[in-house]
Amino acid sequence: MTGWSTADIPRQDGRTAVITGATGGLGFETALELARAGAAVVLTGRNGAKGQEALARIRGQLPDAEVSYETLDLASLASVADFAARFVAAHPALDLLINNAAVMALPKRQVTSDEFEMQFGTNYLGHYALTAHLLPQLLRGHRSRVVNLSSGAHRSGVINFDDLQARRSYGPWRAYCQSKLAMLMFALELQRRSAINGWGLMSNAAHPGYARTDLIPNGPGTGSLMGRLGRYLQPVMSQSAAAGALPTLFAATSPAAEPAGYYGPDGLFEMKGPPVPARIMQRARDVAAAARLWDISAALTRVSFDQVATAA
Ligand SMILES: NC(=O)c1ccc[n+]([C@@H]2O[C@H](COP(=O)([O-])OP(=O)(O)OC[C@H]3O[C@@H](n4cnc5c(N)ncnc54)[C@H](OP(=O)(O)O)[C@@H]3O)[C@@H](O)[C@H]2O)c1
Repeated sequence: MTGWSTADIPRQDGRTAVITGATGGLGFETALELARAGAAVVLTGRNGAKGQEALARIRGQLPDAEVSYETLDLASLASVADFAARFVAAHPALDLLINNAAVMALPKRQVTSDEFEMQFGTNYLGHYALTAHLLPQLLRGHRSRVVNLSSGAHRSGVINFDDLQARRSYGPWRAYCQSKLAMLMFALELQRRSAINGWGLMSNAAHPGYARTDLIPNGPGTGSLMGRLGRYLQPVMSQSAAAGALPTLFAATSPAAEPAGYYGPDGLFEMKGPPVPARIMQRARDVAAAARLWDISAALTRVSFDQVATAA
């Protein structure tokens, strides 16, 4: 696997992919490469102008690309459900779902339309609901895969079951790390449930190391300590957004990617370099906690995978 690059992406003709947060950063690069490989790619995002701009950039490079843009705001369960309904009406099946979008370390506690803490709600609960809504289409897909974006930050994450929404005490990084741990636990739990229920999905996860994207400007801000530190660290520790998308692309397309796999850069501290299996913290493998989180998420989002799977 060493040196895996976009040249190793198998052809994706006939496959349909949905990517969240595809208007910039890693999501855009993932969309571009999947479209180049022949997939029909639905880019989703919360900003229509950026969505159209992303489509134009892809078509500028790939005039025959089968790409479209749809509004999907993960900070609103209604928007997630609306998108899923539109997707189901327009597409018989889904082969690839990339749960990529996130916001990071918002300095002050904010909430989603459903009163969830913004990072837990956007980065994790929105993706939980989206995946559940799209399960019937995934079950109709061919060798369907779901890829969740986690982060090295999952290592510092704790699922605070007593205060999941950080109502009592909010820490910008604590909330981000929790959301990224939740995404990794969700990926592993989805794989367990797929195996038990015979859904036939492959669920895995990826992280980009340290990739130069809008995550800091959109989150803590360039003037924050992280932003200022970033200016010194970037030249040595970081990689381009295109390189940062490789672990996602590997997880999504490589025949060597495994169920419940987790992929990140091979370099020092998993910061940059081509994709290899990444280190999963023991906490993320806690099966009882993952099942508990799953049940709480179903209650909070009011979407049940089991009901959806039975109805499919
Ligand atoms: N960059 C890194 O070094 C790094 C490290 C570890 C993990 N990650 C993970 O990689 C993933 C991609 O991040 P990135 O670095 O590419 O960041 P980015 O450049 O900020 O891109 C994030 C994307 O998510 C979208 N988004 C944010 N809130 C949304 C919402 N409520 N609904 C729908 N879309 C929303 C953004 O849309 P707008 O354009 O409208 O803002 C943007 O398209 C994230 O899951 C992040 O946690 C990144």
